[in-house]
Amino acid sequence: MQTLHTIAEVRRQVRDWKMQNLKVAFVPTMGNLHAGHISLVTEALKHADRVVASIFVNPTQFGPNEDFDSYPRTLDNDCAQLAEGGCHLVFAPSVDEMYPERNGTWVDVDDLGDTLCGASRPGHFRGVTTVVSKLFNIVQPDVACFGEKDFQQLAVLRRMTKDLFFPIEIVGVPTCREASGLAMSSRNGYLSAPEKQLAAEIHKVLQALKAEIMVKSADFRSLESKYSQTLEAKGFRVDYLQIADADTLLPATLPSSRLVVAVAAKLGGTRLIDNVVLTI
Ligand code: PAF
Repeated sequence: MQTLHTIAEVRRQVRDWKMQNLKVAFVPTMGNLHAGHISLVTEALKHADRVVASIFVNPTQFGPNEDFDSYPRTLDNDCAQLAEGGCHLVFAPSVDEMYPERNGTWVDVDDLGDTLCGASRPGHFRGVTTVVSKLFNIVQPDVACFGEKDFQQLAVLRRMTKDLFFPIEIVGVPTCREASGLAMSSRNGYLSAPEKQLAAEIHKVLQALKAEIMVKSADFRSLESKYSQTLEAKGFRVDYLQIADADTLLPATLPSSRLVVAVAAKLGGTRLIDNVVLTI
């Protein structure tokens, strides 16, 4: 596996592969990798002959009071995991390589990026879509894989890819979970052992809410407040818990048929997200 740091080197390598008619899949990451990221590589290998992963902690998707400075940078360990997972090339650029001067061009998806996490993290999705557009232009993959844990990010990136005519197939990959049900996330590393145990309650609460929606058509808004209170009572600070239409991400009302129940909640200083999708 090669590790490259410049746009020019990556372009040269991908051009070589394309000359040989090899299909390229891409797994963008911010590093600090776990088994969930490696499952993206495993999926990517099913779609292409070569897999490129990027490792870049993107400053423009962090708010002023968020964890950009303290976000763990673990390049050597990440590269070892990616090599083991079958990745062919890691692109690990510096901030100056990706943002050589004050950024003047932004990619912003209306509506889908404004609800849920977009409402509490203003500018976050604009940073994500801008950096992923840059990465798509650099790597020019045939396929790109993203985790379904970041359900809203996946929806926003699908929309961006469609609207900007990127000739890239977007593949969503199911969330990897710990045995406890806790969704794997780089930010789980911030949790103490008791917090990590408690964090698994999010998945349990989502499953209970899903079961309640499946057995009886209840008023979605009351279910949201009932289950938010359940999480609050366990010690979480709920940012949102929403039963949304899985396509528009707007609050669902019957008879929406494909729903996502999405939650963001803080445990101590750590913000956790998770979701469950259901069809009624
Ligand atoms: O999901 C992430 O890790 C990031 O948001 C992404 C897609 C790599 C963009 O920085």
